[in-house]
Amino acid sequence: MLSSKASSNSHGQDSAYFLGWQVYEENPFDEVENPTGIIQMGLAENQLSFDLVESWLRKNPDAMGLKEDGESASFRELALFQDYHGLPAFKNELVDHMAKVRGNKVKFDPNNLVLAAGATSASEILIFCLADPGEAILLPTPYYPGFDRDLKWRTGVEIVPVHCSSSDGFRITMLALEDAYQRAQKLNLNVKGVFITNPSNPLGTTMAKDELNDLIDFAVPKNIHVISDEVFSGTV
Ligand SMILES: Cc1ncc(COP(=O)(O)O)c(C=O)c1O
Repeated sequence: MLSSKASSNSHGQDSAYFLGWQVYEENPFDEVENPTGIIQMGLAENQLSFDLVESWLRKNPDAMGLKEDGESASFRELALFQDYHGLPAFKNELVDHMAKVRGNKVKFDPNNLVLAAGATSASEILIFCLADPGEAILLPTPYYPGFDRDLKWRTGVEIVPVHCSSSDGFRITMLALEDAYQRAQKLNLNVKGVFITNPSNPLGTTMAKDELNDLIDFAVPKNIHVISDEVFSGTV
């Protein structure tokens, strides 16, 4: 009844990571109620700032409201068709914010920005745009387990891991990149890009300048894309 995309198992939901999550949900640790329960160590949710955000929202209730005073969008403005790349006013705010969290050392052009409903859909849309089913994306390890679903499942694109090693802090080396590229070629996979996560989930590390230079030196001669998931920028 379903398409091969919908019924394919490549979403990774049955991986050890998500099975572990399920076991945690059935038996969560609580210091008093369930001291022998399971502690969730595999989830990167920033709950530390909730109290600050909640108290700010209480003091600024208009931020979530729909005003008609010309300062923020009215219901009528939002309910009608919009620019499919995102609200221009929102994009202008975002480029300012993105520059600010990078110490105003870089500027972004709102005309080069396309908004999506989070990094999950942005990554999937990008892979749909950059690769065809059966082509490959190189992905440094260890990586966020959701990438099997986001980059591979519906797009039909293969992930070829770039094996990084704990012995040198999981740096993305030229050797590891070339090794992954050659493995892909042996499998007859056309490599379309390297997908990095910077800062890294799960490592919490950021890439050094020489690592980024190596990455560019690797990608440019091969004419492949460098895609950077920076969903955690400004947090470490
Ligand atoms: C590296 C990485 N990319 C993307 C996501 C998902 O981002 P979003 O919630 O914006 O879809 C996560 C969530 O943990 C993540 O760790």
